[in-house]
Amino acid sequence: MNLTLHIWRQRNASEKGRMVRYEVPEVNPEMSFLEMLDVLNEGLIAKGDEPVAFDHDCREGICGMCGFMINGAAHGPQRGTTVCQLHMRHFKDGDVLYLEPWRARAFPIVKDLVVNRGAFDRIIAAGGFISAPTGSAPDGNAILVPKEAADLSMDAAACIGCGACVAMCPNAAAALFTGAKIMHLGTLPQGQPERYSRATAMVAQASHELFGSCTNIGECEAVCPKEIRLEVIARMNHDFLKAAVSAR
Ligand code: SF4
Ligand code: FES
Repeated sequence: MNLTLHIWRQRNASEKGRMVRYEVPEVNPEMSFLEMLDVLNEGLIAKGDEPVAFDHDCREGICGMCGFMINGAAHGPQRGTTVCQLHMRHFKDGDVLYLEPWRARAFPIVKDLVVNRGAFDRIIAAGGFISAPTGSAPDGNAILVPKEAADLSMDAAACIGCGACVAMCPNAAAALFTGAKIMHLGTLPQGQPERYSRATAMVAQASHELFGSCTNIGECEAVCPKEIRLEVIARMNHDFLKAAVSAR
């Protein structure tokens, strides 16, 4: 199939960017979206042009590195799918696709489709840990974990930190990500000692990073490649409010 791509090109954070049109002929439907961009880049390099910069690592949907907007949808049109796992068979001959980086004040553009998601790292550093004695690994059954808590925690732990939820939110809120990280630890017995201070610290850090406020629109849940549910935001708000009330 033949595609027309309009890709956001921007040399660095300080220069202005613009959309540039590319024709990509003979795209194999079995290619992943990133492989299609690899082919485009090989052609650009052969002509002496600058290749399109985009983030990626595992290309298996597990690391969270990849992600950009395709025709206004974070990670593209396929639900529950990272852009590295999106295949060209979901597009058709003659499609015109607009590729843009995540747009959020807290995610400054590094180059082309690459943004700096260091703000997510700082949210995790603010509270994404448990206190545990160092030494040898504890016995696996030393702390019994109820099945329901284990399931909730595992569901939240599926968040790969890609940033699609922020990019799709009209408020550029990081509530789904922050809620997932808070719930991941806060539902386990091991996460109880810092449960409320964790919620306070991580929500405060998200606010400090200039993410917007959640207004329960739900675009984040709709585009999350790991299908993290809005429930994590409700649980985050519960823990945050409880911490605020008990601190008075
Ligand atoms: S909550 Fe979903 S969309 Fe947001 S960072 Fe985690 S995996 Fe990505
Ligand atoms: S490259 Fe790792 S999730 Fe896409």
